[in-house]
Amino acid sequence: MAEIPKAQGSDPMNWDDRFKNNETPWERPGLHPAITHWIEAGEFQAGESGIIPGCGRAPELFRLASLGVHMTGIDLSQTAIDWQNQHLESSGLTAKLQTANVLKYQPDTRLDFVSEQTFLCAIPPNLRESYEAAAHRWLKPGGRFYALFMQKDERGGPPYGCSLNAMHQLFPASRWIWPEESAFTAHPHPRLDGKPELAGILIRK
Ligand SMILES: C[S@@+](CC[C@H](N)C(=O)[O-])C[C@H]1O[C@@H](n2cnc3c(N)ncnc32)[C@H](O)[C@@H]1O
Repeated sequence: MAEIPKAQGSDPMNWDDRFKNNETPWERPGLHPAITHWIEAGEFQAGESGIIPGCGRAPELFRLASLGVHMTGIDLSQTAIDWQNQHLESSGLTAKLQTANVLKYQPDTRLDFVSEQTFLCAIPPNLRESYEAAAHRWLKPGGRFYALFMQKDERGGPPYGCSLNAMHQLFPASRWIWPEESAFTAHPHPRLDGKPELAGILIRK
């Protein structure tokens, strides 16, 4: 597996500094509208287990925990994990939080779902295959991968673009059941020049 680059100073990959300096343009003003839609559609059940890889300060973690889901949040940034801990505590909720490299994480038992939100587009593309392998290994057969694929034409990143063509190669049909393309919903990002994220659910085979 490729190593995570060591980031320094104002490097956009220095996630902990970015949280400390509030340089976090990927953060939406509230819950992601796709997650709200999936919650309202009854996608998540109390007693299920889910993970948000690279959870940062995503409010989805405690919203899903509030439904009685056993949530895990993993992030390299101690600042983000401390923030999540404080919010869980003040909401009287619990979740498993770990300051760790997502790509090396292994849960004790297989999970029902992965909620992917601006993690795949944040990691260098040469780490993507390790992420797909991790998500596949974490999930039970039939487990759900809630994808929010960032659409972007410009080269470079983060965020790095996640075109559907590239995603079909990364999450191959031999390992994942894909929805019809028409089932994906575009959600423009209010703080990233309206770049759309395509929301859809992949099922682990
Ligand atoms: C663009 S932010 C998204 C944060 C959060 N998912 C959200 O939507 O607000 C990317 C996050 O991934 C974390 N991250 C990047 N590489 C990681 C890795 N290899 N292991 C764990 N966390 C990582 C960063 O610290 C950061 O919190």
